[in-house]
Amino acid sequence: MNTNKNAVAAAQLTVGGKTLDLPVFEGTRGERSLDISVLRRETGLVTYDPGLVNTGICTSDISFVDGEKGLVLHRGYNIEDLAEHCMFLEVAYLLIMGKLPTLEEQKSFTNLMNEHSMIHEDMQHFFRNYPEHAHPMAVLSAMVVSLSSFYPQLDTESVTERIDNTVTRLLSKIRTLAAFSYKKFIGEPFVYPSYKLRYCENFLNMMFYSPVRDYIIDPLVERALNLFLILHSDHEQNCSTTVVRTVGSSGANLYASISAGICALWGPLHGGANQAVIEMLQNIYENGASVKNVIEDAKRKDSKIRLMGFGHRVYKTYDPRARLAKKACRELLGHLGMRKDPLLELAVELEEAALQDSYFQEKNLYPNVDYYTGIAYRAMGIPTNMFTVVFAIGRLPGWIAQWIENTRDMEQKIMRPRQIYTGSPQKPFVFTKDR
Ligand code: CMC
Repeated sequence: MNTNKNAVAAAQLTVGGKTLDLPVFEGTRGERSLDISVLRRETGLVTYDPGLVNTGICTSDISFVDGEKGLVLHRGYNIEDLAEHCMFLEVAYLLIMGKLPTLEEQKSFTNLMNEHSMIHEDMQHFFRNYPEHAHPMAVLSAMVVSLSSFYPQLDTESVTERIDNTVTRLLSKIRTLAAFSYKKFIGEPFVYPSYKLRYCENFLNMMFYSPVRDYIIDPLVERALNLFLILHSDHEQNCSTTVVRTVGSSGANLYASISAGICALWGPLHGGANQAVIEMLQNIYENGASVKNVIEDAKRKDSKIRLMGFGHRVYKTYDPRARLAKKACRELLGHLGMRKDPLLELAVELEEAALQDSYFQEKNLYPNVDYYTGIAYRAMGIPTNMFTVVFAIGRLPGWIAQWIENTRDMEQKIMRPRQIYTGSPQKPFVFTKDR
């Protein structure tokens, strides 16, 4: 890990007559941070930063986002280059191992994926006993944590072996778990993974093959899915990644940490936005609402309505992932003969109207990665409630890489923030008869 912690400057904080020199560090892309690790010890103060908007929780070598320039780097490589030239598994390898794989490494990684793609037969009972229409994100999270019971870490394995086995199991099995949760949802028999198929092909086949209907994998659909998984593969300290790091910081195993990350991703302000965008577009389309009114509603201070798929904590310009997703979505729909898809047309119209509106301009609100992906998933035949599951499959290598980095970082501690207590001061206990 690159913990180049040589201070490049110092800041002085004077409080209660005491002056503290706080070192300023610089990351490899020049972003600066104030090290306040001695603050409470020296001054008794804690910081107050809702949403951790100004707080760096770790140093990291994995990915970098420049929200002003619209730049995303994974291990130093531009997301645009990775999206154009790589298979998803290569990017997963890059994020987790820290380097792009050679041809040999790629082959053995793919073989490992095939070896681990089945899930324990007994796990099928879990799927069967879920209620009808259980949300696939709930099922996925539960199944991932259940893996820890079916594949416990062996004491005979070294730490590295343990991590390697768990990582490959998770990366491979998540597709099977996701596809099985869909098959359960529609009441069709499970389709087993095949060693003859590539990573994305296998997922598509497990989702869409049926005993009464052959599924021919369209190479362009596979390519688009491959691209979307790469676009989701990591994105520095987002909400779910922070959850994965936080759970892992207590010493919890990788399965448990990732399961918690899946739950965090589910929310509509995070990965669940891809489902929320389609629901918003469908709602507008079906109710014949005008784009102008939708924009006005999203701007109202007194409403909780937001333009879903717009805005981002870090980007103050167009999200480069959204640009790539929009292009791939158009190409895919054109290929599938859906060039005039009403939801795509509506999405483009809504985007153009928002980008010309002073509210969105002044707040730097642009489409994010979730704005166009759902339209493409829908065209592939993926149901709305599986959209965030696809996001989770894509984000998995990032979560794994971040969990490993956190576990190996000697500076990290159990995540345990402070609070500013605003409740009642201490008061005498009231016995039941007096309440
Ligand atoms: N529509 C309307 N107004 C918005 C939107 C939006 N989509 N996003 C932000 N704003 C306004 C917000 O009301 C606030 O206004 P004011 O300063 O007057 O109070 C201002 O812009 C700043 O917003 P914020 O909520 O303080 O920003 P944040 O960094 O806390 O939230 C966000 C980021 C992504 C949660 C937010 O932009 C949002 O809710 N977007 C819609 C949901 C969405 O698309 N989420 C997917 C995010 S990208 C995928 C991922 O990584 O998860």
